[in-house]
Amino acid sequence: MQVNIPLKKVIDNSYDISIESMQPTHLDTKVAIITNPKVAGLHLGYLLSKFTAKELYIITVPDGEEYKNQESVDLILESLFNHKFNRKSMLVAFGGGVIGDMTGYVASIYQRGIDFIQIPTTLLSQVDASVGGKTGMNNSYGKNLIGAFHQPKAVYIDPHFLTTLHAREFAAGVAEIVKMAVTFNAEFFEFLESADLQDAEVLQKAIKEAVQTKADVVAQDEKENGIRAALNYGHTFGHVIENETKYKKYLHGEAVAIGMVMANELAVRMSLMTQGEAQRVKALLKKYNLPTSYDITDAQSFYETFFLDKKSADSKITFILPVGIGDVKITDACEKDLVLSVLESFGASR
Ligand code: GLY
Repeated sequence: MQVNIPLKKVIDNSYDISIESMQPTHLDTKVAIITNPKVAGLHLGYLLSKFTAKELYIITVPDGEEYKNQESVDLILESLFNHKFNRKSMLVAFGGGVIGDMTGYVASIYQRGIDFIQIPTTLLSQVDASVGGKTGMNNSYGKNLIGAFHQPKAVYIDPHFLTTLHAREFAAGVAEIVKMAVTFNAEFFEFLESADLQDAEVLQKAIKEAVQTKADVVAQDEKENGIRAALNYGHTFGHVIENETKYKKYLHGEAVAIGMVMANELAVRMSLMTQGEAQRVKALLKKYNLPTSYDITDAQSFYETFFLDKKSADSKITFILPVGIGDVKITDACEKDLVLSVLESFGASR
């Protein structure tokens, strides 16, 4: 005997991403803005001058990747229960990637899922993390190993928030912009080579292009069953670098920058990219003072750490390799010896 549940209905989760100064917005429901003390101190006044709700609460969690955990999630949940949030209530993620991921995750589980809006305040979260519905938190086994795909209802990217960003954080966001260009958009890469992203108008154009690129990819493959994995270019190596340096030495975007240089070296050795193209990527990263080198002390141990990555299944490691500039290949068929020789070229001993 068999009982069938027909669940083939198409759900439209489409949403708009606005890239401009926030327009006055009022939500006729109960809303919680989830943020941290740093962002609140700098920008909450500005946000509240634009954003109102029928009932509005501010929930703050401590600032930093080390607080992207169950404790912070519980703190937010408890506050929502205390304030009697219901399934029509709305969360607003107001901060960088940590706040965005965690708020989205809470939204995905609170009463089996409520709506949320992303208002990203760092360049990295504006061009990447806030778009596409990846949500989650860290645990003792690793980063983002717990989470859900839960798309926001809207994303408001306001350049105003970038005015207080430190140079390193700005550059970390640029790394993700470069990632989009190398993997999907040669013309955008050429634009970036001659552009000055310190110029507000140029930056807004670059943000729009990066977000459009990401939106196109997510529209094709929301749950990362294929092409979306290409957005992890630089991340396979970058995650190991972050892990080896205990998430303290490099910002995520900085580790990704080094990771892209490493992936390029592998791509060059597999004749997917020329040395000249790899040099152009490196030069673009250097233009924004991003790190492009890393001293691997133990290639074997670096290689083993690849397996902690979510994208590595069984005994295979998934590498995202550029094909020239503007195209990309996702492969789990790289010879271990070849990968080790690339790692050795970054100062490793085998
Ligand atoms: N940050 C990569 C992605 O959203 O798929």
